This record gives sequence, structure tokens and C-alpha cells, in this order.
Amino acid sequence: MCGIIGYTGPLGAKKILLNGLACLEYRGYDSAGIALYMEDDSIQVIKKTGKVKALKEYCDQTVHKVSHCGIGHTRWATHGGVTDENAHPHRVGHVTLIHNGIIENYHELTEQFHLEGTLVSQTDSEVAAGVLNQLYQGDPLAAIRELLSFLNGSFSFCIMFDDQPGNIYAVRNVSPLVAATTNSGTLVASDLTALIPYTKDYFVVPEEKIVKLSPYKISVYDLDDNFTRISPEIMTINWDTDAAMKNGYPHFMLKEIHEQPEALKKTILPRISQGLPDFSDDGIPDRIFTDCSRIHIVACGTAMYAGMVARALMEPVLRIPVSVTIASEFRYENPLVDEHTLVIVISQSGETIDTLAALRLAKEYGSKTLSIVNVKGSTIARESDYVLYTHAGPEIAVASTKAYSVQLAALYLISCRMSLVRGKYSKEQSQAFLADMLEAIPAIETMLEQKDFIKTTSSHLMDQSDAFFIGRGLDYAFSLEGALKLKEISYIHAEAQAAGELKHGTIALIADDVPVIAIATQQHVLSKLISNIREVKARGAFVILLTKEMAAIDENLADIIIRIPNIDDRFTVFPIAVVLQLIAYYTSVAKDLDVDQPRNLAKSVTVE
Ligand code: AGP
Repeated sequence: MCGIIGYTGPLGAKKILLNGLACLEYRGYDSAGIALYMEDDSIQVIKKTGKVKALKEYCDQTVHKVSHCGIGHTRWATHGGVTDENAHPHRVGHVTLIHNGIIENYHELTEQFHLEGTLVSQTDSEVAAGVLNQLYQGDPLAAIRELLSFLNGSFSFCIMFDDQPGNIYAVRNVSPLVAATTNSGTLVASDLTALIPYTKDYFVVPEEKIVKLSPYKISVYDLDDNFTRISPEIMTINWDTDAAMKNGYPHFMLKEIHEQPEALKKTILPRISQGLPDFSDDGIPDRIFTDCSRIHIVACGTAMYAGMVARALMEPVLRIPVSVTIASEFRYENPLVDEHTLVIVISQSGETIDTLAALRLAKEYGSKTLSIVNVKGSTIARESDYVLYTHAGPEIAVASTKAYSVQLAALYLISCRMSLVRGKYSKEQSQAFLADMLEAIPAIETMLEQKDFIKTTSSHLMDQSDAFFIGRGLDYAFSLEGALKLKEISYIHAEAQAAGELKHGTIALIADDVPVIAIATQQHVLSKLISNIREVKARGAFVILLTKEMAAIDENLADIIIRIPNIDDRFTVFPIAVVLQLIAYYTSVAKDLDVDQPRNLAKSVTVE
């Protein structure tokens, strides 16, 4: 979703803003712009639909004077089409502003402040700028505080006032913002990727506080009568600049697929003590695992599909109900959770608005909340009762890959610890579980070595309009993510089906050459799945079969057979995920699509 960057300091602002926007591109956007406070005290706004690269070329041709202060924005359209006018920054009177989020009452505000006919865009953001301009009487803090009293919705703003040279004001409610003081100026941004070229120390802008950036210092003000100064908690980024670069790979997605063995080691190994899962360093007490009578997992997209795998793994062992709900449904459905429910919230970004709302609702219902989050200090991490951080490093490609694997690893660790402390696994069984789980890491490496073979699947998929993924039990849960991966980056309609369900409708869509990706790693249902494959094959399907090396399968059963190492059935998701990711990746590449930034999608979905 929208990206925000602000800089003030001794260096040239134009370059820093444009580099920052390039770092934020992965969030997803359709237009970009910057506003520069020039040395003659004027503010110059340059904004265009299209890519940051085009904005940069245009700025290089048109902006020749130096500026040391400015704000920049990538817009993911919500209110109003993709036009230059709707791009940010918006400039109204004394105010120049950029915004991420949605102002829900912008219609009412347009009427209340008589803005009809004065606005040049169709955005809710320009309405906020118009209101702020009317409220501004020379005191930025007072005007911003008053603006907040009128706004409904989620937002983060960066604001420059004509008569406040060198100063940027920032404020947020729900939508993310981080800020940092460095030796070469101060910065504010939607996320850390734009800050890491300059510093490792940062703070999360506290909600409903006003942040003032001056060239060498940042002040944070409470909204009380005196605008009391507060000190935010300084945090340190635990990854380096290289982590957010392609490092020789053609796409971030391919790089991130390859990073999975390392990400898994970083997530799993520090949580094993004497061969057993151990969350003492995470501060997660066993009582949340023993005191609950049910588990409810809430998340969106890939994170939710990781939850589906966990459900299939946990419920048969724990013998308590484990539900998985899409966060955007959970938040409006009066969910069946209470103080006896452990609500596990999963989010790579820690900022997904629906997941955050679901977390808040679960807390209102009295549930204990445990989040699995990749971004340190993100809102979901901060608001959960307990957090289990995954250590994937920054995930830049819109399509989740390594985040999925480490979310699974975290869920598997939780499952093992819970089984142990609830007496479902003995110490020896728990140790064996973890030892078997670690075998998934070399299995992933084996599949990465086979990427050229896996690539051959793309020539059969690239010209198709539909594809079907089938599996049973855990394999069905894996197939859900496989279908999402393929559709989001290759634009092929892909559907996952529990294989036994095919005959109840979907098999009507199977005809000559329709691709069916069958996942068959669960021994206890292997023969059933083989029958389902024969059924689709008999109707002309092109079958790509993913199975174990040892599986006794007729080589003519499928058109392509990809075999994974013989690891325990419970952990096959890890190498299978890599195969599914590579199939989607190479199909997207074969279609010459924008792998890392697929159309219409945003990395961090911070609006409803
Ligand atoms: C999938 O590849 C997407 N990136 C998307 O489904 C994602 O998993 C979802 O939007 C949730 O994001 P989160 O983990 O940051 O909350």
C-alpha cells in the first residue's frame, strides 16, 4: 500500500526521497510524487502516474535547484482513479501533505469545511489537506491536533507547512510509520526498508502523537494541552542493507525462495533447548498452552494458509478444536472466542489492517493472543499479549515465500510445545518431532538444486487460463498456498481442491490439457489420491505430480513427476512449498510479467 518517505538534513533531499521511494516500491503502487522545500522557501511538487523510475527521470530533467527537505509518496489508489491529480503530495494553501490509509468521513468533511469546488483531486487525502489548511493559524502542533479530532479512519501523514522551512510533521493512527535520527539528517518512512541505507536505529512513531523532524533532531509530542515531549523507544534493525537487495538474483522472489533454509535455521534453532522446543527467551509462558480449551488462528492470504496447515497438523494431536478464520471475516462475525481460547494471529508485516482488527477484537473477548510476526516492533507484535518473531529478514517480493516457511516453522514449534506441555507428546516424541523437522531444511536445498527441472513445468502452464491444485489432508492445506502463489504472480486462475471433492462439481472443468498439480506426500491417503489423479487423467488433464522419492507410483500416472526427499509426512510442506513457489515463479517469468510487483497487489495491506 502507499509508501511514505520524508527527509530533512544537510544532504540533497531529491535523491534521498527518490531512493527511498524505490525502496518502498515493493509495497505496491500506481503513481509516485515528491514535494521539495526549496531554498527560496517555495515548495515544488512533482508527481506522476507510473513507476518511480519515470518520476526520477522527470525530476532529473526538471529539478535543478538544491533542496534539503522534502516528502515523497507512492500511491496505491483507493479513492479516485490512477491520475496525476490524485497522486500525492497534495498541496492546499499553506499545507503540503502525503497520506497512507483511508479517511472514512471525507464526504462529511468536504461539506463541513465547504471544500466543494476547491479540490483538484478525488482523494480523501486532499480533503484532509484542505481541512488542515483551514485550521492552520501558524501553529503546526495545534492545527494537527485539531485535524485529528475531525478524522475517522486509519492514516499516516507527513506534512510540510509553507512557513516552516526545514521541518516535517508526521502523525499516524493505525497506518505504520517509523522514524530515525542519523548523522546526515532525520527521516520518516512507512517501513524500515527505506531507512536501512542510513541507519539501524529507529523508532516506531507512536499512535496519536505528533512527530516533528528538524534537520538534526526529532521531537515527539503528546496531544495534551502542553504538547508534552515524550521519548520514543529506540529499536535496532536486526538485518543489514544486503538483506533488502537482489544480490545478483533477477528478482527478489527468487532470492527470497533461496533464503528459506537460512531463514528457517534462524527461526527454529534458537528455540531448541536440549532437543525440545523452548520459548523462554520469547517470554511465552506454558500456561497459555495449557489453559486454553480451543485455538483460533486468524490471518490473511498466505499467512492464513500457513494457519490451515497448522490446523491439519495440530487438531489430530491436541484433540481440541483448532479453527482458522480469514481476518476480514473474523472481525465482523461475532466470533466464537472467549477467555478459554488461544488466538494465534499470523502476519509477516505485522501491519495488515484486518489482522490487526481481528487481534483487537479477540482481546476484547478476553482471549489470550499470541502473534507470529516477521517485522520487529510492528503494530500487531506490540499489541499482542505474546509474540513469536520469525526471522526471515525483509521480504520484498509481494508474493510471500520465505515468510510462509518461517510462519509454518513457528506454528510447528508451537504445536510441538503444546503437545509436550499438554501431555500429548512425551519428551522423546517431542525431540523426535524436532529432529525430523530439521530434516526439512536439507530437503529444501535438494529441491532448490532441481530448479531447472521444476522450471520445465512453466512451459505447460504459461498459456493456460486455469489450473487446479489437489491434495488430501496436509497436502490439501499445502495446495491452497500453491494456488494462491500461481494466481497472484502469473495471473492464471488457480483453484485448490480437496481431491475427494473433485467429483462433487469441479471435475466438470477438467478437459484436455487442463493443468492439475497433484500433491501426494501423505502416505495414509496416497492410494486415494492416485485414484483422483487417474480420474482427471482420464479426462485429459496435464498432471504435474509432487510426491516423495520413495512413493511407489506408476511413472505413467502423471505427465511430470517431481520427487521430494523422503522426510516425515508431517514436514513435507517445506520442500513442497519451495516447489510450488518455483512453479509459480518460472511461470510468471515465462509470461514476462512483473514477478516482484504483480498488478493490483500491495505487500502490506494497510487499508480494508
Ligand atoms: C501472498 O503472497 C501475499 N503476500 C498475501 O496473501 C499476504 O500473505 C497477506 O496479505 C497477509 O500479509 P501479512 O502476512 O503481512 O499480514
